[in-house]
Amino acid sequence: MIITRHERPPTMEAGYFSLLEFDAAQWGAVTRSLFHHDDFVESALSRWVAGAHPDYSVQRRFSASENGRLIGSAVLDLPQVDNTHWAQLSIVIDPAHRRRGVGTALLDASFAAAREAGRGTVHAWTWEELPPAGARTLRAAEGDGRVSAGSESVTFMVRHGFNLAQVHTISGLTLAAEAELEAAADDARAATPSTYELVQWHGPTPAELIDDYAALRIAMSTDAPSGEADYQPEAFDAARIRADEQSQRMAGHEQLVTAVLHDGRLVAFTCMIHDPARPELGDQWDTLVVREHRGHGLGMLMKTASHAALRRHSPATARVITGNASENQWMLAINRRLGFRPIAASGLFQRVDGGR
Ligand SMILES: CC(C)(COP(=O)(O)OP(=O)(O)OC[C@H]1O[C@@H](n2cnc3c(N)ncnc32)[C@H](O)[C@@H]1OP(=O)(O)O)[C@@H](O)C(=O)NCCC(=O)NCCS
Repeated sequence: MIITRHERPPTMEAGYFSLLEFDAAQWGAVTRSLFHHDDFVESALSRWVAGAHPDYSVQRRFSASENGRLIGSAVLDLPQVDNTHWAQLSIVIDPAHRRRGVGTALLDASFAAAREAGRGTVHAWTWEELPPAGARTLRAAEGDGRVSAGSESVTFMVRHGFNLAQVHTISGLTLAAEAELEAAADDARAATPSTYELVQWHGPTPAELIDDYAALRIAMSTDAPSGEADYQPEAFDAARIRADEQSQRMAGHEQLVTAVLHDGRLVAFTCMIHDPARPELGDQWDTLVVREHRGHGLGMLMKTASHAALRRHSPATARVITGNASENQWMLAINRRLGFRPIAASGLFQRVDGGR
């Protein structure tokens, strides 16, 4: 087995892209075999785009190969403007080559690169089925989310000195017909004080709102529960919002932001990502209401309005998925009232070096 470190070429080049295609295909197979659908599959192009702004995040890639064929892949993401004390690792091995030390070899190479970059903490996310009743499970310190203690990803992480820092609950919703979604949005509107004004945009954030939007993105990084993960506040400004939006466009994704104004300032938002190549699915990313404006129904107002707008904009969209910290009872309660049901879990594992 040969472990190779790959530098990202300045422009897309076939050899490097085939590594991204291998990574995408292997992760696609992982989620397909766990959940029997393609809703969590992401393309090779989105992997390329994730490394397109090295001012914000640098990617280091490693491959394992045997007889000239790829058998494993690892990527290390290194945040550049904030959270420069950690790296995020993702490793996947071709199922025919598991339990032969390939994952460990890629992990060792990745940890060496993390150390070289001065990162003392490494995070890794796993995909997990909802544990069946009676299964032996691991639980994070906060929240009621659990992952099966015996799954191969969890066993691998624990074996390598990682602790479970947080469990995310991934939920799915089958969207109602447009008229029903509009009615739910109207009801939520009627239940919200008239001092709050709903705004929505498809694509780039309007220039007059971009500074406020950057502030909300920072609040998202401090206010959303992060379990035992040692996250630091993220540094968002208008330039970084534009870089993010450019990445979304390059990946072929559209964003639909639903937000709330109060006295002319943004105080809440939810962001829906939609891929026209997969029109049946919406992916609801961040949702935040700033502290002083909680308890006025803004979460429900924005989510109902975003679902109605998504359906209007893309009638073929039948499902929405979303992920939340399992200790975030307020967001999960809103989601349950909207009809979201848990469909998967994701474990956030953390190793602070010296763990093995
Ligand atoms: C997790 C994964 C990367 C492990 O790769 P691998 O090449 O099989 O790992 P290794 O052979 O180096 O295994 C190292 C140790 O992990 C544990 N382990 C790995 N797979 C296991 C399994 N199916 N059951 C029990 N223990 C397992 C064992 O302790 C193993 O040591 P051992 O073989 O000496 O008992 C691989 O199963 C995979 O690609 N899974 C899907 C993607 C994923 O979940 N990645 C991890 C999150 S980023």
